[in-house]
Amino acid sequence: MCGIVGILGQGPVADLLVDSLKRLEYRGYDSAGVATLEGEHIERRRAEGKLRNLEARLKDAPLQGRVGIGHTRWATHGKPTENNAHPHATERVAVVHNGIIENFRELRQQLESTGAQFTSDTDTEVVAHLVNSYLEQGQSPEQAVRLSLPQLRGAFALAFLFTGHDDLMIGARKGSPLAIGYGDSEMYLGSDAIALAPFTDTISYLEDGDWVVLTRTGAVIRNADGEVVKRETLKSGASSFVVDKANFRHFMAKEIHEQPEVVGHTLARYIDMATERAVLPAELPFDFRDIQRVSITACGTANYAGHVAKYWFERFARLPVEIDVASEFRYREAPLCRGDLAIVISQSGETADTLAALRYAKEQGLHTLSVVNVPTSTIARESEVVMPTLAGPEIGVASTKAFTCQLMVLAALAVAAGRARGELSEADETKLVHGLIEVPRLMSAALATEPQIERLARDIAKRQDVLYLGRGTSYPLALEGALKLKEISYIHAEGYAAGELKHGPIALIDENMPVVVIAPFDRVFEKTVSNMQEVAARGGNIILMTDAKGAAEASVEALVNIVLPDMPSAFTPIVYAIPVQLLAYHTAVVMGTDVDQPRNLAKSVTVE
Ligand code: AGP
Repeated sequence: MCGIVGILGQGPVADLLVDSLKRLEYRGYDSAGVATLEGEHIERRRAEGKLRNLEARLKDAPLQGRVGIGHTRWATHGKPTENNAHPHATERVAVVHNGIIENFRELRQQLESTGAQFTSDTDTEVVAHLVNSYLEQGQSPEQAVRLSLPQLRGAFALAFLFTGHDDLMIGARKGSPLAIGYGDSEMYLGSDAIALAPFTDTISYLEDGDWVVLTRTGAVIRNADGEVVKRETLKSGASSFVVDKANFRHFMAKEIHEQPEVVGHTLARYIDMATERAVLPAELPFDFRDIQRVSITACGTANYAGHVAKYWFERFARLPVEIDVASEFRYREAPLCRGDLAIVISQSGETADTLAALRYAKEQGLHTLSVVNVPTSTIARESEVVMPTLAGPEIGVASTKAFTCQLMVLAALAVAAGRARGELSEADETKLVHGLIEVPRLMSAALATEPQIERLARDIAKRQDVLYLGRGTSYPLALEGALKLKEISYIHAEGYAAGELKHGPIALIDENMPVVVIAPFDRVFEKTVSNMQEVAARGGNIILMTDAKGAAEASVEALVNIVLPDMPSAFTPIVYAIPVQLLAYHTAVVMGTDVDQPRNLAKSVTVE
């Protein structure tokens, strides 16, 4: 998963390409490159590492071309070296690619046998050589691309530049997203509307199998059968401003602190404050009373949000829920019942596995509802019902505010479903809604634990492994806590259902093992205390995240008690997410890792 951009401009485009790539860095940041047409030939500048390295390269050797393509990479095939950085090129054509060409080995063999000289380890380079082979035979650029596309297996968004064609750029899409931007005698291609926001707000999205020929005056789009097609032109809501860190050291810190506000916005969208009712989306194409089962799929943190929601749907709406990681769901051919509901959750709305899960559910005749943070994303566009989270752009690779906003949307939906199914009385609903209304204020109060957590992080940073335990809705939060710590501090961590500890993981406990126990004083608190006793008896160091009552009743000596405000037990994960995130954040800061762009990761995972 990578970010791609292309510009057919009126003046030099190299700097504009880099500006746009900065907005796409969330898709990968291990190397980057641009190619422009300089007179009669293609010139490239590429650099390993962050975009600033490419900027330095361009400063030393500027490019003047008016047409160009750019790429920011998350390595799939081949190490993140300059050689493997895109664009890949021959003398006649340059290409940038997001996705995976699955049959690249056989294509490469075939092309090498006819004399093509490969210079990288990537799958993408075959695309350049394949198109080149047709250009060599005298085909036009359009024909060369048209003949090449059906030979590519896998997923791709591609942008091409051709030697000798100053007023031409070609794009193609299968699986990976690609948007066309319409400017004033200028045209653009980009992985998303955010990348194109500095240039234009007039966008259309290619559909799967589409390819497009751009000149400065317009675009001709064809579908996979070669027929000219029209795709809707939209006004993109993406802001042209690059989001900044305000006074925070990292985007992640800013995003953690924004949560009371953005969760509040999300709450206001899904709760009618006047009537104190949870609001179902208008024109819902199904009745919750007809739904027998809900299937939730997502990846990573979004999957843990779904896991919390399973508890809510089952409890409030008495609806059975199946939850799957999307990468497993998409291939296990799960039997689903037509007319049931599939919910997919995704911050980016572009995660390849989640999108595939959505499509599978659709094919099986389920109603589809997505909870996404990017309303123009592919998942949003392909879902029957969209419930946007109002988190605003999330830049830190570690998801924080998107997670708590997802929880808020799902909580409101579960309450509304419970009411619609007659499982919750009006009084029950009011009580739950009151609980939700309190959440933003409680999140602000939870932020007050930061100085204590900062001190604790100095100790955690010295450890090799950390366990997180929780029961009920605190169990998925334990999984999320472990994920957060792993991804930004690189400390090994595992999340477990507290009751599962004795079935194996307890063997790991000794005096070097910190155990973070997430245990608000709720109906399973006593049970979790028993599990804490088991840890304490084996010398484990307990870090207890609880409320005042829990701290008083715990009867186990904890290394640290992180005491959160009292609150109704139903929605504790939304508030307890804050100390969990802060602990990961401050540990990573102590360890000096790249908090916002941790190694090996990307914000949006558009490959399987
Ligand atoms: C979260 O901190 C992760 N970086 C990751 O697990 C993420 O939640 C996952 O890749 C899903 O992304 P999505 O929400 O954009 O679909």
